[in-house]
Amino acid sequence: MTNNAKVPFVDLVTIHHELESELLAVCKKVFETAGFIGGPEVEGFEKEFAEYCDVKYCVGVNSGTDALRFALTAAGVRPGDVVVTVPHSFIATTEAISQAGADIEFVDIDPSTYTMDPQKLRAFLETACALDVTTGRYIHKKLGKPVTAVVPVHLYGQMADMDPIMDLAEQYRLVVIEDACQAHGAEYFSKKENRWLKAGSVGRAAAFSFYPGKNLGACGEGGAITTNDEALARQSAMLRDHGQSKKYYHDIEGYNGRLDSLQAGILRIKLRHLSRWNEQRRAAAKIYDELLNPLEDSVVRPVESSLAKSVYHLYVVRTKLRDDLQKFLTDAGVGTGIHYPIPIHLQVAYASRGWKRGDFPNTEAAANEILSLPMFAGLTPEQQKQVADNVSQFAASLAVR
Ligand SMILES: Cc1ncc(COP(=O)(O)O)c(C=O)c1O
Repeated sequence: MTNNAKVPFVDLVTIHHELESELLAVCKKVFETAGFIGGPEVEGFEKEFAEYCDVKYCVGVNSGTDALRFALTAAGVRPGDVVVTVPHSFIATTEAISQAGADIEFVDIDPSTYTMDPQKLRAFLETACALDVTTGRYIHKKLGKPVTAVVPVHLYGQMADMDPIMDLAEQYRLVVIEDACQAHGAEYFSKKENRWLKAGSVGRAAAFSFYPGKNLGACGEGGAITTNDEALARQSAMLRDHGQSKKYYHDIEGYNGRLDSLQAGILRIKLRHLSRWNEQRRAAAKIYDELLNPLEDSVVRPVESSLAKSVYHLYVVRTKLRDDLQKFLTDAGVGTGIHYPIPIHLQVAYASRGWKRGDFPNTEAAANEILSLPMFAGLTPEQQKQVADNVSQFAASLAVR
């Protein structure tokens, strides 16, 4: 590779090319039966993904957003409840909370891992909530509504610090729904349980997205709920299918939120490669860490907690000169992204809630400084060297300014 070959932010063409014959064969199989909705591919995928996540049940749905919405509703979140999450996420996290009928409340992130800071959650619950002795629920003092759930987001492939979050949830009677949309296969070492836990197996339920760019991506839309709770799984399965318990018997009003057979068949094939792809991402992260180490005065590398095994959905560096670095890399042919440039509490969509700049300083600082470098299974060490060389050139250009 020459020194100025282009490095894409993500390459979704090559892995599909490598699996082409298997993927086409499964599509042909589905075409031959014309069983496009439900059926053996969906059931097979649900069984295999449940095993992968170390849970009893998986319910395939049509997106990560619906997975979150159905999981919240099936876990008992009702209109008028308050659900706590972080403002440093993709807006789908809060859309799902609103669509479940609940009010959103935020706590800030830990500035090094970018995931929910359990101390901030504790402070929120201790100061902003009060016990209603008649119901035994904790009430959001300002909103006058019960706080019933918390949604930690396992961002960039790294799980949130789940032990203290689970402890607080138990103490304050909150349901925990993991947003695992960026964390297929990620792990967390629970000191309480003295073992590694898989993303999707810790809370009451979890939501996964199979948007094409995810570590496990469909060739279209897809999502899943994982849980050990049989009733929650059954309720989620009804919600995704117009509230049916059996054909044309609608016990509740639901949604059209099914995972289709073509996507399920494709996901089954790709799932067999997920552990290997995640290892490739971890190896690539290590290479970046080494290459960028000498540049630590210019860019901050991602921090992997000692309690986490990240699957590096994204490799996110940080610098106060983020916009300049991004432009420099774009000009050099290196693709980058910003995940996410506007904190959710400052999005126009939530202007009526009255959140303002300064409310969640760790999130706001991150949004101004983070930059996602190219990261995907199949990224080569040569490509990574080029990215690091370009970052180094950027740092050197500052020194001579
Ligand atoms: C953290 C997070 N939550 C939720 C979602 C929503 O998933 P989907 O796009 O499949 O609806 C995404 C996907 O981008 C995500 O990254």
